[in-house]
Parts: sequence; structure tokens; C-alpha cells
Amino acid sequence: MSRAIKVELENRSYDIIIGSGAINKLSNFLSDNKYSKIFVINDNNVAKLHLKTLQEVLQKIDIPTEFVITEAGEQTKSFVFLEKICEEILSKGLDRKSLVIAFGGGVIGDLSGFIASILVRGIDFVQVPTTLLAAVDSSVGGKTAINSKSGKNLIGTFYQPKLVLCDLNFLKTLSQRELRCGYAEVVKYGFIRDLEFFEFLEKNYQKVFQYDEEILEKIIRRSCEVKAEIVAKDEKESGERALLNFGHTFGHVFETETNYSDLILHGEAVALGMVMAAKMSQNLNMISENDFLRIKNHIEDCGFITDEKKLKADWNYDNLISHLYKDKKNEGKNLTFILLEKIGVGVVKKAVELQEFRKVLFGL
Ligand SMILES: NC(=O)c1ccc[n+]([C@@H]2O[C@H](COP(=O)([O-])OP(=O)(O)OC[C@H]3O[C@@H](n4cnc5c(N)ncnc54)[C@H](O)[C@@H]3O)[C@@H](O)[C@H]2O)c1
Repeated sequence: MSRAIKVELENRSYDIIIGSGAINKLSNFLSDNKYSKIFVINDNNVAKLHLKTLQEVLQKIDIPTEFVITEAGEQTKSFVFLEKICEEILSKGLDRKSLVIAFGGGVIGDLSGFIASILVRGIDFVQVPTTLLAAVDSSVGGKTAINSKSGKNLIGTFYQPKLVLCDLNFLKTLSQRELRCGYAEVVKYGFIRDLEFFEFLEKNYQKVFQYDEEILEKIIRRSCEVKAEIVAKDEKESGERALLNFGHTFGHVFETETNYSDLILHGEAVALGMVMAAKMSQNLNMISENDFLRIKNHIEDCGFITDEKKLKADWNYDNLISHLYKDKKNEGKNLTFILLEKIGVGVVKKAVELQEFRKVLFGL
């Protein structure tokens, strides 16, 4: 297992450990920190597939542990489940020296992090991501949230984990669709920050979908390095961190309109959104047609849909626009998008005309 990546945030700094068998490093962390009780939060899919492995590690440590198993899916990031899980944990008894372990994908990570941040005004938590998406994105950086009827991730906190343990063995049970969703966030780092990384991905993406361990470790490591660097500079997203939203502005609009259903998963919405953001960048003469096509072709080669009409013929465009206006990056009525100056250089573009959004949607 190679060197840990550090997220440098003064007294809130933490390590990201990546590799096969990384979960065993949990014992070292638990021996160094005297926790009174551990609450493992996971969903029923992950529980069935991998809880035994985690239990075996925890059995070696003499700390009382409770397992909270919840339903899988985006609808779990809601007030209903927040209340249910908080009450379950409180009824089992906790104190300020209790630890939450978020064991699962981004849904469990976001929800558990939020829970850890509000229970008795904040207890420690560790992220153990089990999806590629969670490994490269949601487990790092401390954004926690649940969704609201008004939009995605609108209720949450910034609350950093104490450790991120990414064990590649957990990723082996992911479906191709879930792996692809994670890949969308991986290639995002290439688009916004690192042309060389994108070139590496263009050459090696098929190996990701064959679960090639060496390639997976490489791309997770590079993704986490980029994310750690950006988060260290702008933890609370007052500037540069917004770049990580590349593709998400469009993506969230489709996710909200389809009620976070299986019609379009988060990573798929981001992939579609990145192509749209690249198109907008081309329309605004920021990138060339060649660069746009290079991005679109790669996303299509990976098996993503890049035309929303292929997903559903009859979108309600007024609704899409109304969702767009709820994006957290907007300033009043002024729309903000993350666009590209070239492949490898993302920029925050403020005060974009609504007409530009329409142009991309309607191919004007
Ligand atoms: N906090 C952040 O910075 C951040 C960043 C990106 C995304 N997110 C959030 O992450 C969420 C999406 O995360 P996700 O794609 O991991 O979704 P998810 O947590 O719903 O996981 C996807 C599916 O895979 C299953 N699963 C998890 N691990 C598995 C494994 N090892 N093998 C087989 N199945 C497994 C889950 O049960 C679920 O059905 C969204 O809610 C998004 O808003 C947050």
C-alpha cells in the first residue's frame, strides 16, 4: 500500500489511505484514538456484501460497536432517514467520544457525515467509501448533506472526517453502471485540472471497467490528490472549490427533475452535464470545437448518454430552468457555471445569460 495523501486543513487535517486491504489500517487509527463506542452506518446492499469484512477488523478491537443498517438509494438522504438514524443512535446511547463510521457510497457518506456533525453537536467520523464515486469525491472534503424538496444537498454542513480509508477490494462488487458513475467524477479532475491525467484516462479507461487494480489505484490516488489540494485552499467553497462542480450545474437540474430516480444516476447526470458545460464553453469561444468533440467522444466511449432527449423525450423545460435558478453557486438572479478555458483548466464563470443555457439544451 502506498503513501497516504494528506488533506491539509490545520487542526482538521486527515489522511486518505488507498489500497487493497486498506481497511486493516482502521485498527491503528482506533488504537491511537480512545473512542467509547463506534456506530457503523451502512446501507443494506453494502451490509450484505462487505459488512463481515469490517466486522472482522472491528472484532480485534475492544470497543463496543453498533451497526445501523439503512435503505440504499438517494431517497435515504432525507429528513425522514436523518431523524430515524439519529433516534436509533441516541436510543443506543452515545457520548462525545463516540465515533461514526460511514461505510458505503456517497449517500451513506453524506448522510452519516451530517449525522456526525449534529449529534451532541459533533462527534468524530471516518469515511470508508465503497463506491468509486465515494472514493474519488464524496468521502474527501467534508461536504455533508441531505436533499430537500427544493433541491439536492441543500441542507448540510462542512464537517471533515478524521480519516478516509479506501479499500480497493470493496469496489470489486460494483456494477458496471456504478463504476461508470464514479468514473465521471474521475475524468472531471482531468477536465478541470490536469490534461495529462485526461490523456492517461483516454488511454486506460477500458481497464477501469475491467476492475484493473493497478489502474484503479492510480486514478483514485490522482483524483484524491487534486481534490485534497483544492479543498486545502478553499474548504468552504468561497472560490476555487466551485470548480469541482464542473458538470454538476446541468446535472443537478436533471436529477432534481427526475426526482433522483434510477432514470439518471448522479454520475450519469454529471457526465451529461460535463458535455453540456463543454458545449457552453465552446459557444462562448472559450474552447475549440475539437476540444468539445474530444470531451464528448470520450464520455460517449465510456457508455454515457450525452443527449438528454435520448433519456426522455418530453422534458419540461420550464421546470429545468426553475431548478437551475436554485443552484447554490448563483448570486441572486445571476447564473454561475463552471466552464473550461481549455482541457485541464476549469474556470468559474459568473453572470452567464439564461440564453446560453437554452442554447445548450436546444442546440441553437
Ligand atoms: N459530499 C460530496 O462532496 C459529494 C460529492 C459527490 C457526490 N456526492 C453525493 O454522493 C451520492 C452518490 O454517491 P454514490 O454514487 O456512491 O451512490 P450510493 O451511495 O447510492 O451508492 C450507489 C449504489 O451502490 C451500492 N453500493 C455501494 N457500495 C457497493 C459495493 N461495494 N458493491 C456493490 N454495490 C455497492 C449502494 O447500495 C447503492 O445502491 C449523491 O448523493 C451525491 O450527491 C457527494
